Amino acid sequence: LFAGETDFLKGVVAMDGLPPADRIEVCFAGRSNVGKSSLINALTGRKGLARASNTPGRTQEINYFTAGDLYVVDLPGYGFANAPLPVVEKWQRLLKNYLRGRQTLRRVFVLIDARHGAKAVDDEIMSLLDSAAVTFQVVMTKVDKLRGDALQQSLDKTRAALVKHPAAFPELILTSSEKGDGIETLRAIIAGID
Ligand code: GTP
Ligand code: MG
Repeated sequence: LFAGETDFLKGVVAMDGLPPADRIEVCFAGRSNVGKSSLINALTGRKGLARASNTPGRTQEINYFTAGDLYVVDLPGYGFANAPLPVVEKWQRLLKNYLRGRQTLRRVFVLIDARHGAKAVDDEIMSLLDSAAVTFQVVMTKVDKLRGDALQQSLDKTRAALVKHPAAFPELILTSSEKGDGIETLRAIIAGID
């Protein structure tokens, strides 16, 4: 997950477009605008690698990156997006089929905006991962936008929500793609996945 080792491979719009399941992969899931693409850029140290923007619905394909021996996957957001409903519904179907059906998917990082905490759609995705027995870990994003008590409250609430999800890692990773918090930690976690 370091600059020079990471490259864009392809954007996938249907299950039959997925690359061969010839290596393990991790993916970044979360509501539109939560910071998935920005986090991939921070992790790889390459700003323009995954396209990030303030428009919810920026990422519209399942984007595959090669990172050493791994695939790193940037997903379209779930929940609200600035796109026509039939288009959004098509992504959501693809996203769910991917999360349920990808044999080589070792871990899903479920991103949650530290300001907003887990929403109903997050809970729905986490339940889907429970039932597919896909291990996931929650990453709080944009921690630079919150401080002190507000952050603590948001973390407590999110930890409490995780208790009922058997596929969840109990510990949260706190990140800011802007300031760099948690980026080294997350790199080390990803490097340890096999
Ligand atoms: P979709 O592809 O639309 O689902 O969005 P995404 O989850 O990939 O979000 P993206 O990375 O495009 O970021 C959305 C917005 O949040 C951008 O304007 C980013 O600059 C901003 N953002 C992302 N991470 C951080 C962060 O750690 N701190 C702050 N302050 N802003 C962030
Ligand atoms: Mg994106």
